[in-house]
Amino acid sequence: MRRLWPPGPDLGDDLDAALLRHYAYPDGLSAPRVRVNFVASLDGAVSVDGLSGGLGSAADKAVFGVLRRLADVVLVGAGTVRAEGYRGARRPTVGRALPPPIAVVTGSAGLDPGARLFTDTAVAPIVLTTAGAPGERRDALRAAGADVVELPDLAPPTLLAELGRRGLHRVLCEGGPALHGALAAADAVDELCLTLSPTLVGGDAGRIATGPSTMRPMCLAGALLDPGALLLHYVRPDDSDDFPDDVPIDRSGDTA
Ligand SMILES: NC(=O)c1ccc[n+]([C@@H]2O[C@H](COP(=O)([O-])OP(=O)(O)OC[C@H]3O[C@@H](n4cnc5c(N)ncnc54)[C@H](OP(=O)(O)O)[C@@H]3O)[C@@H](O)[C@H]2O)c1
Repeated sequence: MRRLWPPGPDLGDDLDAALLRHYAYPDGLSAPRVRVNFVASLDGAVSVDGLSGGLGSAADKAVFGVLRRLADVVLVGAGTVRAEGYRGARRPTVGRALPPPIAVVTGSAGLDPGARLFTDTAVAPIVLTTAGAPGERRDALRAAGADVVELPDLAPPTLLAELGRRGLHRVLCEGGPALHGALAAADAVDELCLTLSPTLVGGDAGRIATGPSTMRPMCLAGALLDPGALLLHYVRPDDSDDFPDDVPIDRSGDTA
């Protein structure tokens, strides 16, 4: 895998260790920091036949796994959990004994208690919902082993306050587009890891963020190239100094 930005040596043979360094969160977080991870085709599609898997590559899978190992929690919308058949994360967070829990955002609590999210996991999934969701569904998810949390609402500040209350500061959001769009609109996206898959897929698949319009400048913190696929890492312009790479970040594209 070649390193395009910041300039420096390629990642070498111990890819896992190099990726863990490349994507390390800033030290000493005292509040949730939201890193979003997506793969998209060159023409902006977020799925092929309703699933993201067709866009992935070995490099994208390696980054996906490393990002999970760096996270305290994986935050994901219920649409993605349902579409992709989510199960618990497999590998422990670096420095911990257990993998990060999956925290699902759902207003309806419309998740199958028999799904792998509940039956195939080393840690209890967290279900972030409200008292407005049908009580029998909430009860069924609790009975399936979930940590069901009834929040006043599912707005991003409320979601992140709950994760922060639990000390879950390294937040990895794996989508989907609706949740990402809500986070972006609330100015709650601190980082975006985007794999550009070298494919054109056409069709009517959505983009990586949907919902309210927003305009948030981001700054390139890292770029890797693996035969054809670009693995891009963007951060808030104000945070670019937090990334301990040995060259300054190019901020020439920042807006005032
Ligand atoms: N290419 C990729 O990297 C990637 C990554 C993720 C997903 N995807 C694809 O994206 C598609 C799913 O997209 P999606 O947009 O429907 O999924 P989503 O964002 O994962 O889920 C949307 C659902 O989240 C719940 N929700 C609750 N509060 C919300 C809030 N504040 N903001 C947003 N959502 C909230 C709602 O669930 P309830 O209906 O239960 O209330 C809503 O229907 C699938 O095809 C999946 O394969 C692709």
